[in-house]
Amino acid sequence: MLKETVDPARIDLWYARLDDFTAEDQAACLRLLNEHERRRHDAFKVQDARLQYLAGRGLVRTTLSRYRNIAPAHWRFLANRHDRPFVDPELGIAGLHFNLSHTHGLVVCAVGAIEEIGVDVERRDRDAGLDELAPVVLAPAELKRFAKLPRAAQPEFFFAHWTLKEAYVKARVMGLSLPVQEICLDFLPSSPTMSFTGAIEDDATRWRLWTLRPTDEHLVGVAAVPAGGPLNLNARQTRVINED
Ligand SMILES: CC(C)(COP(=O)(O)OP(=O)(O)OC[C@H]1O[C@@H](n2cnc3c(N)ncnc32)[C@H](O)[C@@H]1OP(=O)(O)O)[C@@H](O)C(=O)NCCC(=O)NCCS
Repeated sequence: MLKETVDPARIDLWYARLDDFTAEDQAACLRLLNEHERRRHDAFKVQDARLQYLAGRGLVRTTLSRYRNIAPAHWRFLANRHDRPFVDPELGIAGLHFNLSHTHGLVVCAVGAIEEIGVDVERRDRDAGLDELAPVVLAPAELKRFAKLPRAAQPEFFFAHWTLKEAYVKARVMGLSLPVQEICLDFLPSSPTMSFTGAIEDDATRWRLWTLRPTDEHLVGVAAVPAGGPLNLNARQTRVINED
């Protein structure tokens, strides 16, 4: 089969709904996992979390096999000290990077030639606990805008911010201890931009950010650093176990 190419000017965002992740797909997915992944899978007590984990590992494996002649079950991964997984360099695969996110109902996997890629998916209809979370996650200017919104508009606003901040934090290979309140997002006029209000050691203008609504229930944030030229995002729906 013709392989997908990894283009430095493009990030592919593969997403799969979990409402059609059948028992047959789940069994096929389980067969792709290595010993360590199987143990992690079996250790989940909550069925939904176990399913998301299974679908996530399955999606990463089948998606990476779109790009290189390696069977889904043969991918090997290592993780950095902050648990971020990456392809084991011993496989001899250069320039193929990914990041994964999952939530109830959806798994997403961003793939590109760029190492600094992060993705996060959340449900956009969750409003429980927002009053407590907003002051912890939003910058002061964002919090003011949030407070002025009608209640019904607050979840969408909050999760658009949350997903991009989380995507940025996940893309920063060095770790997850960044103070997200010091990231200030601006969604106007067109694509989102970011600035830092505190001591985050980075140049915010290096980053491209995208917000997507792949389903009526989900919001996805993607953050990446272009390799020098333009960078586009290509969102593609798939199944976790795909034959296309
Ligand atoms: C570890 C963390 C990134 C996981 O996020 P999550 O929302 O629970 O889970 P997601 O579905 O988005 O991502 C999970 C996947 O990210 C990947 N991942 C794990 N650690 C990672 C890291 N340090 N960096 C990037 N990706 C990571 C893994 O592939 C993981 O999937 P798997 O464990 O099923 O293989 C997150 O919990 C965290 O610590 N965030 C801190 C940032 C923060 O404060 N956010 C608050 C709101 S902005």
